[in-house]
Amino acid sequence: MSALQADVSLRDLNTLRLQSRAAWFVSATSVAEVKSSVREAQTKGLPLIAIGGGSNVILGPEVAALVVHINLRGRDLMEESDSHVVVRIGAGEGWHESVLWANQNGYYGLENLALIPGSVGAAPVQNIGAYGVEVKNFIAQVNVVNGVSGECETLRNEDCAFDYRDSIFKRETGKHWVITSVDFRLSKEPICCLDYPDFRKMSEDRLVTPTSILEEVVAIRTKKLPDPDNEPNVGSFFKNPVVSREHAKTLKDEHDDMPQFPVPGDQVKLSAAWMIDFLGWRGAEEAGVRVSDQHALVLINVSTSFAPELIGLANKIRESVKNYFGVELEIEPQMIALDS
Ligand code: EPU
Repeated sequence: MSALQADVSLRDLNTLRLQSRAAWFVSATSVAEVKSSVREAQTKGLPLIAIGGGSNVILGPEVAALVVHINLRGRDLMEESDSHVVVRIGAGEGWHESVLWANQNGYYGLENLALIPGSVGAAPVQNIGAYGVEVKNFIAQVNVVNGVSGECETLRNEDCAFDYRDSIFKRETGKHWVITSVDFRLSKEPICCLDYPDFRKMSEDRLVTPTSILEEVVAIRTKKLPDPDNEPNVGSFFKNPVVSREHAKTLKDEHDDMPQFPVPGDQVKLSAAWMIDFLGWRGAEEAGVRVSDQHALVLINVSTSFAPELIGLANKIRESVKNYFGVELEIEPQMIALDS
């Protein structure tokens, strides 16, 4: 474990590159080190906040906590049958590198989730999803350290309350768990999920294999989404909102080309990107924050140092969508040390 340090900049540990300082900071490379940081935070009377790749967080300027950077590594085969494997991956491993590793070993299922920025430990938190697949479909269990008792615990898939970009780890009841590794149940038989519209043409043009899907996802994401290494961002800034069927119908009558997707419960999911784009926000820039020219759901930190400017623009976008479409947009990344 690195030595505990006071007053540490978190700028390089969040992909928005926001200026933020942690009261205390430590980097943990083992479960034992996570446990000792829990005890350290208790001794100091401070909350413990775990961060991984920092690709889905908005950090406030001052984080009055002990921030533990989760740097636990390792990819191990835990179980194998004729058709499936269970692999345990350390929370600090890179997500995309782990998708590549699984595919190269013939453990299939995660291909549609290629190139999502962040670490393995962050994947269950927001139940990452893309191109018709959500990670919850492949999670067997999540291994954690309880931030109150300091003990190891295991949460089975059904304990995690996975939902669209949501899980127990985002809620008050689950915030005290620090994820140390994730067990994935993957298929030894090729799995190809081609539900996403952009894939339809692919199935006519080329041999569809898990590896060709992975390559296609990388190509689509590279074209459609700004790279956080060049343009600091956290991917989708808002969730796609869900409204009643009646509300969706009224909107469709007014906007024939509005994308809509039926979801269970007689509800309809709308495209936040389409609404934001329709209202002319794509490419707009204010106080050093820009709505990406490539994708209207992505906010980029151009020159702003702190989170409040970013939240300011996000709130203006929310207000305009609310006023015009009567739809509430919810911010998707987790806010840390910010009111909202
Ligand atoms: N669109 C616009 N303007 C834009 C961008 C998109 O009108 O600037 C339209 C598109 O033409 C399309 C619709 O909006 O009709 C949806 O766009 P897209 O297919 O890119 O998907 P999305 O709903 O905006 C979601 C996820 C992404 C994920 C993609 C692909 C959420 C909040 N976002 O975006 O996830 O990659 O689907 O499955 O669910 C992320 O969470 O960070 C993320 C990037």
